[in-house]
Amino acid sequence: DENGVGLSDEDLRAEVDTFMFGGHDTTASGISWILYCLSLYPEYQQRCREEIQGILGQRETVQWEDLGKMTYSTMFIRECLRLYPPVPGVSRQLSKPITFPDGRTLPEGSVTVISIFAIHRNPSVWKDPLVFDPSRFSPENVSGRHSHAFLPFSAGMRNCIGQQFAMNELKVALALTVLRFELSPDPANPPCKVPRITLHSKNGIHLYLKKIR
Ligand code: HEM
Repeated sequence: DENGVGLSDEDLRAEVDTFMFGGHDTTASGISWILYCLSLYPEYQQRCREEIQGILGQRETVQWEDLGKMTYSTMFIRECLRLYPPVPGVSRQLSKPITFPDGRTLPEGSVTVISIFAIHRNPSVWKDPLVFDPSRFSPENVSGRHSHAFLPFSAGMRNCIGQQFAMNELKVALALTVLRFELSPDPANPPCKVPRITLHSKNGIHLYLKKIR
C-alpha cells in the first residue's frame, strides 16, 4: 500500500482464491452454455462460423486485433450470457435503508439477493424472454433498453473486474471451436440447469462434435 506494507499470507491467499474462483468457474460455465447454445441454433452457429472464417482467413489462431471485429459472435455470446448467466445471482448487505418507489422499505443491515437470472428472463424487461435471439444485442436494440437490464457481470462499484478479459476468453473459445467443429445437441440428454454459485448443469452438457477442419 502507500506505506509500503505488503499483503499477509492470509491476504494473499484470499486474493488468489478470489481470482481462481472468479476467473475460472465463471468462464468455464460461460463457455459450456455457449457451446450448448451453438448446438441448439445451427443457423446462428453458421453465422458465427462465417464471421470467424472471414476474420481469420487461413489462420488457426486469434490475434488481439481480431477480437474487436467479432461483432455478430459478440452479440451471440451476450444472448447466451442473458439466458444462461454464469453467475445467476449476487447478494449485498445494505449499508443504509432503502425505500422503493412503491413505498416499501428494507432496513439497514438486510442481506438482499439480486437474481440476475430472473432479471434476464423478466417479461416486463425483455419481449418474449425465452426466445434466443442475438439481434437483441444489435446497437439499435441495446440503445432502447435500461442499462441494468443485462447484468452478467453485475453493476456498480463491485462489478466484475475481469469482464473484458472474460469476454476475450469467450470469444477465443467460440472462434476456435466453430472453426474446427460443427456442434449439434444430444436430445436424449438435455442439460438440467442448477444454480450453484455459478450456473451448472446437474447432468453435464452433452453435445455432438463433427470435425470440419
Ligand atoms: C463469463 C465470465 C465471468 C462472469 C459471468 C463474471 C461475473 C461476475 C460477477 C456477477 C461479479 C460480481 C459478484 C458480486 O457482486 O458479488 C464478479 C466479480 C468479480 N470477478 Fe468476475 N466474472 C467472470 C469472469 C471473471 C474473470 C475472468 C476474472 C479474473 C480474471 C474475474 C474476477 C472477478 C473478481 C476479482 C470479482 C470481485 C470484484 C470485487 O468484488 O470488487 N471474473 N464477476
